[in-house]
Amino acid sequence: MRFGIIADIHANLEALTAVLDTLKRQEVDQIFCVGDIVGYNANPAECIELLKENGVISISGNHDRFTSGEIDAIIRKETRDVINFTRNALSTEQMDYIASLPEERYFEDIFLFVHGSPRHKDEYINSLQIARSNLQLLQRERPFVSVCFYGHTHLPYIISPNRIETDIHRSTSFELDPKFTYLINPGGVGQPRDQCPLASCAIFDVDRYVVHYFRVEYDIETTQGKIREAGIDHKIADRLSKGR
Ligand SMILES: [Fe+2]
Repeated sequence: MRFGIIADIHANLEALTAVLDTLKRQEVDQIFCVGDIVGYNANPAECIELLKENGVISISGNHDRFTSGEIDAIIRKETRDVINFTRNALSTEQMDYIASLPEERYFEDIFLFVHGSPRHKDEYINSLQIARSNLQLLQRERPFVSVCFYGHTHLPYIISPNRIETDIHRSTSFELDPKFTYLINPGGVGQPRDQCPLASCAIFDVDRYVVHYFRVEYDIETTQGKIREAGIDHKIADRLSKGR
């Protein structure tokens, strides 16, 4: 069994298409998405349809929840403007799809999918201390979980009690030790933030206990053109070529 993991698509159709092509060429059995299908970029409706066509199993991210109006947090104007753009771009069925996504999921009881962290759906795992306390929380409250896949930071990471893998800027593989609990971020599909503009995704090989990362080229200029054409803040287009 090999499953693909994607995160933070953020309505980037060119990046999502490239990543799905990569995962299909690798003949994965199933693809999971850990949230933030929409927000920032210009093709939310097309991305939702592509996920449905490919039978991707998803959870919600904070931008999906902003869009479906489930939460009323104070957020930046540029983000609010994109949410309004996204709401206008989606059909009723697509809005219903976004609203229907659960905040977390299990697969085979030992794999957990969350957007932010196991502790909270909106928490950023952006420090060693936060990572460690979440690993401890998993071991204490959900000891049956072997790997928790998360997103939200848009940074590819492997974290276990005795190991951290980061700066994953090219396609590469890591053998894991089934004795340990892991937090794994596949990196961002549609808005990578690790100074590498390539779209990111991962495959988990359950039998070999190996995680394969893929950094994938896509047509960034087309994505940027669509963002500018849609009237979305140009900074959101500019950041894509810098990977931040
Ligand atoms: Fe995100």
